Amino acid sequence: MNNTVLVGLQWGDEGKGKIIDYLCRDADVVVRFQGGNNAGHTVITNQKKFVFHLIPSGILHKNKICVIGQGVVVDPEILLKEIENLKKVGIPVSKKNLKISNFCHIIMPYHRIIDSLREQKRVEKIGTTKRGIGPCYKDRVSRCGIRMGDFIDPKAFAFKLKDNLREKNPIFKEAYGQKGFRFNSVYNKYKKLAKKIEPFVCDVTDYFYKRQDKKFLFEGAQGTFLDIDAGTYPFVTSSSVVASNALLGSGLAFINIKKRFGVAKAYTTRVGEGPFPTELKAEVLDYLQDEGGEFGATTGRPRRCGWLDLVLLKRAIKVNSINSLIITKLDVLGNLGKIKVCIKYKKSEKIIKNFPYSLENLKPVYKEFRGWNKDISKVKSFSKLPKAAKTYLNFIEKYLGIPINFISVGKDREEILKKRKGEK
Ligand code: IMP
Repeated sequence: MNNTVLVGLQWGDEGKGKIIDYLCRDADVVVRFQGGNNAGHTVITNQKKFVFHLIPSGILHKNKICVIGQGVVVDPEILLKEIENLKKVGIPVSKKNLKISNFCHIIMPYHRIIDSLREQKRVEKIGTTKRGIGPCYKDRVSRCGIRMGDFIDPKAFAFKLKDNLREKNPIFKEAYGQKGFRFNSVYNKYKKLAKKIEPFVCDVTDYFYKRQDKKFLFEGAQGTFLDIDAGTYPFVTSSSVVASNALLGSGLAFINIKKRFGVAKAYTTRVGEGPFPTELKAEVLDYLQDEGGEFGATTGRPRRCGWLDLVLLKRAIKVNSINSLIITKLDVLGNLGKIKVCIKYKKSEKIIKNFPYSLENLKPVYKEFRGWNKDISKVKSFSKLPKAAKTYLNFIEKYLGIPINFISVGKDREEILKKRKGEK
């Protein structure tokens, strides 16, 4: 396997967890490089369903090193719960198979609270996951964040926490009419968490500089249109989601990434607010939500659903320099008589073929396909798919001008088809 990065090409929830789980059989190291526990990656093995928020899904495999890179924001309580839950079902997690960068920023309780309060006050709501992601990244760029290296050093932690509370408590009181945080209660609770996390913390750059011969798999979270720069700003998350951040967000700039996989669902979903040109409002929405289980893995919110948007995908391919495509959840479309894909937009009679600056007030122009009316989850090869499904996939490939390598046709680990023989 070449060193590989895998990112979502839509608004997240493309089914990346399952694909990472599949690809990481050939990897030695699996790396998260951005985001935090706003992500929810689901993997279904024959025994159990696992939802990961922070730890790379590679942890389910023996002899893999999982890395939480410097671009990730870590909520210590969530991380420890995730480790505990894995241990409970017999999956070993130790400093041997989990490395956390000492440069990661820590999500503190005040980040979570301010995320909710700010959202209530906003005129233009984002619909955040309320996990404190935005406020934590905000502190990072404001240079008042608490990094993992400070967190595990009781003196540095006390100094930074005091400094933060001195600034933040008056904001809580004056802007939101809320009580602030007492230093002692936060410090005492978080100091204990830090002690448990300390063994996993290391200088990731240093550690892997000597191990460059390993095979690296970089696991993106969220999706391209939630990227802070490339996404539908301001309705985005606060990190760089795109493939080019894999090196910076991991601290592993010396790794040569050859393969850039983009994952797209066979239709489109979005959680939270923001423009969504192909969004559906009626029966097909109910069908996709039910059939696709389109409820957030992190917040349980119903996902907005719509047809596949190829104008968006073409943009995401450029933005991430994707050289291989993966289509997921094709099986979900199985009982639809007609399937549509957006090939351009219309804005007051003007045709728009390329990604526009704003996605507001666009009317999608669709190409319609016949459905295949068949359960394809047990199909074992691309050639055995119904003709209508192949036509759908071939059209996507032709429009986008890049090959589809894998097609996911079910929830289970093994329900993946290779479009071309010998694909790895
Ligand atoms: P935040 O990342 O919690 O600040 O949320 C910002 C926006 O990104 C909201 O619309 C969220 O619903 C969305 N979002 C964040 N993480 C994910 C994800 O993993 N999947 C889908 N949407 C996400």
